[in-house]
Amino acid sequence: MHLREAVTDDLDLLTGLLVDTVNWAGQTRMTRAQVIALPELHHCVAGWKRPTDFGLVALDDDEAPLGAIWARLFPDDDPGYGFISHDIPELGMAVHPGRRGTGVGRLLLRGCIEQARTAGCSALSLSVEDGNHVARTLYERHHFRVVGRTGASDTMRRDLGAQPA
Ligand SMILES: CC(C)(COP(=O)(O)OP(=O)(O)OC[C@H]1O[C@@H](n2cnc3c(N)ncnc32)[C@H](O)[C@@H]1OP(=O)(O)O)[C@@H](O)C(=O)NCCC(=O)NCCS
Repeated sequence: MHLREAVTDDLDLLTGLLVDTVNWAGQTRMTRAQVIALPELHHCVAGWKRPTDFGLVALDDDEAPLGAIWARLFPDDDPGYGFISHDIPELGMAVHPGRRGTGVGRLLLRGCIEQARTAGCSALSLSVEDGNHVARTLYERHHFRVVGRTGASDTMRRDLGAQPA
């Protein structure tokens, strides 16, 4: 398994993985078409890749994608669910169902924290829904802390200070 930077051509991949984040519990809460039709969800990846976007794709030995992580800045008047500030990128991530629990998410998150540091970001944010214990545990282990709440989700923040990824 290895990582590469997410590029403009990854929009289709990221859109599919965004749908997977909505359907994290296993049931199809929303189809791809429904996610694309909802601006407050689709804006997480729409128009990828903007100049300030960054992210990573995990690949297997045959270069097939296993999952990805993406980070985007949102303006104050169009915040993401995990919004903290217009200068703190918000993360999204998903791993293909058959490859979860094998270390792909950990690798992606560590890599993206390093990308954010390199880009000079002071912090990262994200949103995690109640019940998504796998994602929450992953984030907590990487020093994300709850700083807010939107609906049935916590907003988590990771300061990019002294802690290693
Ligand atoms: C959340 C997600 C990205 C994690 O990726 P992953 O590749 O499955 O995770 P990893 O195998 O790297 O495991 C990372 C950590 O997650 C936790 N974890 C993984 N599988 C777990 C399980 N079955 N039960 C509890 N915790 C688990 C552990 O803390 C693990 O760290 P450890 O191995 O050091 O103990 C992935 O499960 C996923 O795509 N879920 C659906 C979409 C989603 O929820 N996205 C996040 C939205 S906020």
